[in-house]
Amino acid sequence: MKIDLSFNAVQFDELQLREKNVIVIDVLRASTTITIALKNGAREIIPVASIESAVKISGSLFGEVTLRGGERNGKIIEGFNLGNSPLEYSETAVKGKSIIYCTTNGSVAMAKSRYARTLAVGSFINLTTTTNFIRDGKKDFLFICAGRANTVGNFSLEDAVCAGMMIQNLLKTESLEVELSDSAKAAYAVSKTYSRSIHKMLKTSEHGKFLIDLGFVEDLKICAQVDSVPVLPILMGTVIKLKKEENNIENT
Ligand code: MLT
Repeated sequence: MKIDLSFNAVQFDELQLREKNVIVIDVLRASTTITIALKNGAREIIPVASIESAVKISGSLFGEVTLRGGERNGKIIEGFNLGNSPLEYSETAVKGKSIIYCTTNGSVAMAKSRYARTLAVGSFINLTTTTNFIRDGKKDFLFICAGRANTVGNFSLEDAVCAGMMIQNLLKTESLEVELSDSAKAAYAVSKTYSRSIHKMLKTSEHGKFLIDLGFVEDLKICAQVDSVPVLPILMGTVIKLKKEENNIENT
């Protein structure tokens, strides 16, 4: 099994990802929020790359069964129902709803991967569930870390550490022969340094400090809880839903 990794989604377009099995990781906060929204009963998540697409898609559906969720500069987008704090995606708020989802990095990486052979959404809260999906798939995988737009190298430490910890778990699986690309080796190495205290790492990361300044202290605690929400959001058709037992890499 070949494992490759990109530290952001900037270089990709949809066509390039068409034949790939992709795991998108955006720890702060898109992957975490989507996983919690689906666990709390949201029907589906429709990731979009721009606010314009969100408005166009939601059009007449907006309100009853369809919500708009997301952020710009960490805050709720004007005219949207929800921001991007996982705390806002409670059962009361999202049960049975479709969510048109627009964020700066995470939803863009997911929208670019919507024609991928497989797309699953990973974070610390579903770390082992995501690793098991990769392991059981026995196929080559590409990790796309959402990264951080408008920063040097568009790099985010937390996404690299999360992917690195999944790679650590895959390497521990004796029955699996794993070949790592150099960027996957780099994520593995970074995770060896930071995986002992995830919450501390998030609090000292650039995006973590940015969110703390905005008052989202609780969000970091939620995003740091490894395996607290053992469910897997996966692409089914053009929308993201919860993987059901009968779903495996062949029939998603
Ligand atoms: C993103 O997609 O860029 C993040 O999820 C943004 C955030 O929640 O701060």
